Order: sequence, then structure tokens, then C-alpha cells
Amino acid sequence: MAVRTAVRELSPTRRRRDWFAVRSLAEGLTTPLHPDDYLRYVNPLWTSRELRGRVESVVRETEDAATLVIRPGWGWRFDHKAGQYVGIGVPIEGRYQWRSYSLTSTPRRRGRRITITIRAMPEGKLSGHLIEGLAPGTVVRLAAPAGDFVLPDPPPERILFLVGGSGITPIMAMLKTLVRRAGEGRWPLPDIHLVYSSPTPERMIFRERLSRLAANHESLTFTPIFTDTDGMLTFDRLDEVVPDWRERQTWACGPAPMLDAATEHWQDADLEDALHLERFTLERGGDAGEGGTVSFQNSGKEHEAEPGTTVLEAGEAAGVGMPYGCRMGICHTCTLTLVKGSVTDVRNGDRFDQPNEQIQTCVTVPDGDCTIAI
Ligand code: FES
Repeated sequence: MAVRTAVRELSPTRRRRDWFAVRSLAEGLTTPLHPDDYLRYVNPLWTSRELRGRVESVVRETEDAATLVIRPGWGWRFDHKAGQYVGIGVPIEGRYQWRSYSLTSTPRRRGRRITITIRAMPEGKLSGHLIEGLAPGTVVRLAAPAGDFVLPDPPPERILFLVGGSGITPIMAMLKTLVRRAGEGRWPLPDIHLVYSSPTPERMIFRERLSRLAANHESLTFTPIFTDTDGMLTFDRLDEVVPDWRERQTWACGPAPMLDAATEHWQDADLEDALHLERFTLERGGDAGEGGTVSFQNSGKEHEAEPGTTVLEAGEAAGVGMPYGCRMGICHTCTLTLVKGSVTDVRNGDRFDQPNEQIQTCVTVPDGDCTIAI
């Protein structure tokens, strides 16, 4: 008689719960050390202290851009929203360098991989290193996905994606997600017009994939603009390129001058609510914070900071060895204790004025005199 054994597949939630239970048990057995102190020798991705990932491959997209396929380790939730970015920290010359890049993969647990697509910047040591120097197998640190450059759920019926250069990366994640969800029958693919400017066809990231997508989906219109030969898309030509742009919700990502011009154009049309922007650099108000004398308690150094100067910049100007990573408020490497005084977060105007508060020095500016513990 054949004996059949039922093998029950555990759900991901159940597996996760069991794994947490094993970890708690291990915590008791390994005290005073943390289980991570042992586990990382077995598998460097097994740590709950920080998010990590292993680079599985680097796929060349253009001469100066590549996609990193990363398998995240313990704690990664696969629940990001298309359009969000992640921080990635890579050891270079013994120090972790952090940058943030848009995720180009769709948020899904199946496959257990994420991708980010990077263009090497002429002055960007890290971007060049990520493209040229990361061997498959390299373990990197990751910061959880963040950012509100995302689509609503359900998406609007008519969308304009306005893209310049590597601004395609968050848009690619949105496009893939819209197409996938349409394929799953969740909602029909919206009427999408993608206008994407790049100097040449060779430099246009995902050009072939986008052409294929447009060929396969009637409601997706792809207008590539090659600025070396076609000239820049100026907004007085927008009526010609996308006659119904006023009836679309627009997501725009690209160089700052393009985004500034778009903001002005949409404001002039009294349609600024229909425009959603993503900027890749830290935005700060030039007059944020009053400035003041920033004193560095342990080193006895100080710096007279102009309005708009971050605490990190003040420390560097004073010759203090300030810790930092991304310089954009993502990785928290720069966090120090505010001993006294007050500082303002340039991203949202939040004020910190409690003694011994933790502040991110790369995104805070002094409001009057303040003292930092370093
Ligand atoms: S340096 Fe990354 S948050 Fe400040």
C-alpha cells in the first residue's frame, strides 16, 4: 500500500513568525552576545540590526548605466511602492558611502529580488564604483524604502510621465507595476503618455524595453526625444507633443532645470495640483534656520554658520571629523546629540530644541547658537 505523506507548505507569514521564535530562543542562549554576532558568520544577510542585501548581478543598460539585482536579507518586507527609493551603503576605502536610488523593480515578494538602476556620474565616485566595481556576492547595507513620489491606488485614468535622463528609474517601476496589475485584472491600464528626453538613443536607459511595452499596449504612448538632434523639449512645445496634457495627472522626474520649468508651466496653467515631482537632491530653503555659532563639545571647535548651512557642513568647516553617509537624510549615519540650542530640519521645518535630542546633522540647520556632542 502506498503511503502518502502530506507536505504542508508554510505561508511566508508563518515562516517569518517561526523564524522570529527561533531568534528569540537563540537570543537567550547567546546572551550576552546577540544572535546576529554568530549568525553573520553563517550568512552575512542574517542580521536584524540593519538591512542588508547581496548583489546577485550587475546588468549593463547603457554605456554608463547598469541595473543592480540585489537579494535583500533579513527584515526586508517587499512592500515598497513603485516610485520610492532606497538607500544603499557600500564600503569604499574602509568607510560606508551611502546614496539613494529609485527602485526599478515592482513591489512583489515573489522572486525575492529588488533592482536599482544607476547612472555613473562624472564626479560620482560611488555611482561609478557600483557600476564598475561591485562583484556579484558583495554584501551591501540597505536603508528601508522611502519617498512619496508614488501613484495613488487606483491610478488616475490619464497619466503623463515627463522624464529626463536617469529620471526614468522611478517611472519604470511605476510603468511595470501598472502593466503587471493590469495583467492581473486589478484595473485596466490607464491612458499613459511617456515623454522621455535623453541626449542620444544610446544613452536612453530602457529604450528598447519601453518601445516594446508601447508596441504591446495600445493605451501607452511613448515619445522619445533625443536632445542632441531634436533639441530640448521646451514647455511652449508641450501642446504640440501632448495636446491633452492639461487633462492628465503628471509625474515628472529629471534634472532640476526641467522640473523648475515644469513647475512654472503648471503654475501658469493653474494646474499645480496635477503635477507630482521627484528631485534627486536635498531640497533646502536658502533662508532655512537663522544660522549661529555651532559649538562641538568634545573637540572644543566651533563654526559661525550662515543661514542655510547644515550642522554637518558647519562641523566640516570647523575641521571636526563628522560622520556622514548619504548627506540626504536617509541613512542616519550622521546622527549626533544636540546638547543645547535648537536646529531645524530643512526638509519639513521640524524644530529640535530639547537637550540631548538626536539630530541628523546633514539635514538640520542651526537656529541660533547650538552645541553638538562630538
Ligand atoms: S548622512 Fe545620511 S542621514 Fe545624514
